[in-house]
Amino acid sequence: MEKGVCIADLFKNEPEFIGKKALVQGWVRTKRDSKAGISFIELNDGSSLKSLQVIADPNHPAYSELLSKITTGSAILAEGTVSASPGKGQSIELQAERIQLYGWADPALYPLQKKRHSFEYLRRIAHLRPRTNTIGAAARLRNNLSYSIHRFFQERGFNYIHTPIITSSDCEGAGEIFRVTTLDPARPGQAQGEDPYLNDFFAKPAFLTVSGQLQAEIYAMALGKVYTFGPTFRAENSNTSRHLAEFWMVEPEMAFYDLEDDLDLAQDFIRELVGGALNDCTEDLEFFTRYIEPELMGRLQTVSESAFEVLTYTEAVDILTKSKEQFTFPVEWGSDLQAEHERYLTEKVFKKPVAIINFPRSLKPFYMRVNDDERTVAAMDILVPGIGEIIGGSQREERTGVLLEQMRLKGISTDDYRWYIELREFGSAPHSGFGLGLERLVQFVTGVPNIREAIPFPRTPGHAEF
Ligand code: 4AD
Ligand code: MG
Repeated sequence: MEKGVCIADLFKNEPEFIGKKALVQGWVRTKRDSKAGISFIELNDGSSLKSLQVIADPNHPAYSELLSKITTGSAILAEGTVSASPGKGQSIELQAERIQLYGWADPALYPLQKKRHSFEYLRRIAHLRPRTNTIGAAARLRNNLSYSIHRFFQERGFNYIHTPIITSSDCEGAGEIFRVTTLDPARPGQAQGEDPYLNDFFAKPAFLTVSGQLQAEIYAMALGKVYTFGPTFRAENSNTSRHLAEFWMVEPEMAFYDLEDDLDLAQDFIRELVGGALNDCTEDLEFFTRYIEPELMGRLQTVSESAFEVLTYTEAVDILTKSKEQFTFPVEWGSDLQAEHERYLTEKVFKKPVAIINFPRSLKPFYMRVNDDERTVAAMDILVPGIGEIIGGSQREERTGVLLEQMRLKGISTDDYRWYIELREFGSAPHSGFGLGLERLVQFVTGVPNIREAIPFPRTPGHAEF
């Protein structure tokens, strides 16, 4: 099969290509015929936001018959000579000498028009939405961030660990879990008897993981510094702009790290990821700033350069209760911070990322290390403007006695987590980690208002098509 050059590479190395032949393959964004009898095809191959202008002569013997059949959405090949473009906003163009049509798109039915479509409409045609500027650019940014995540940890000696998708534990203890079963709810008879799981695949309750942390801890207690990066699932029935039922989480876990070390790493991590995107995806970020979120570039610049504000939960509650802001949910010591409180702190008060540490013990999961005051745990939530919480993490409870007490208070079975307790009994060590939601990061970096635009195929309550 013939293979051409990426349109992104053409633009990147323009001087090298001018006057030379090039072959490109992609999808037609538009085709228009000028009065002077020339056709202009805007060709996009997804390698960059910019499309290449292909100039075609309707009388050219090589493709004169074919040209009239080329419509918006068609997949084509164009080969010709690259030249400097006299057109406004175009640096180079391709003078077509050969055109080939791979697949036609019926203009009467093709669902994408040149005009702007709403994000809601595009979600219904998820098989075509990456061909739009916004979703294509979001996909490239997601790729860039994923690559940077691996690079960041690999350069620092972390091992990438694949933690299981199917698990019998509920790490966060919130009960927002999807069950994994081979029993058919339409045939309830199967599950009858004393043990309802007897005939089930794993012979016990099993779920899709909400977090790979507990298993990552096992490997941190052997390899020192590890990270897991994969899909996680939460049956959270909340239809918000920042929750998905299936999302990707990156979770580093480090032996001999306390909360302060954890926080330092998280700060370096966010700053490096954002800095990398600014450096590598300038064109896409300029697009988002122009069409989606005017403050985006400035915000990303600030995040990549400034130190995060660190305050305790108690200090945060103090600021919130003293503020004149009208919140939907009132705040007092012991109540969970809502998105509105998080955003007030990071957007209005500090105008940069904020790390809140030392939350009340009652608000956080069983595994977080209890502080000396016995009222709080060594937790950290990192908040960013426009999103609120983007990272949640903690130092882990490494003392068996305190862990058992936490489990008792939270009603967690010591039988089910025997292995987690044993990790403390045989060579326990202080350790810490955190979890970053990839889609929240993509949402933050692109400025898309809804997290559904930050993932190729969003899963939310009532939506699991494609
Ligand atoms: O704060 P969370 O629940 O922390 C954990 O799961 C820990 N076990 C992580 C760890 O310490 N290893 O989730 C971590 C992050 C959140 O800050 C948020 O960015 C993202 O995961 N997240 C979600 N993203 C999209 N949709 C959801 N329903 C999310 N729930 C959490
Ligand atoms: Mg959290």
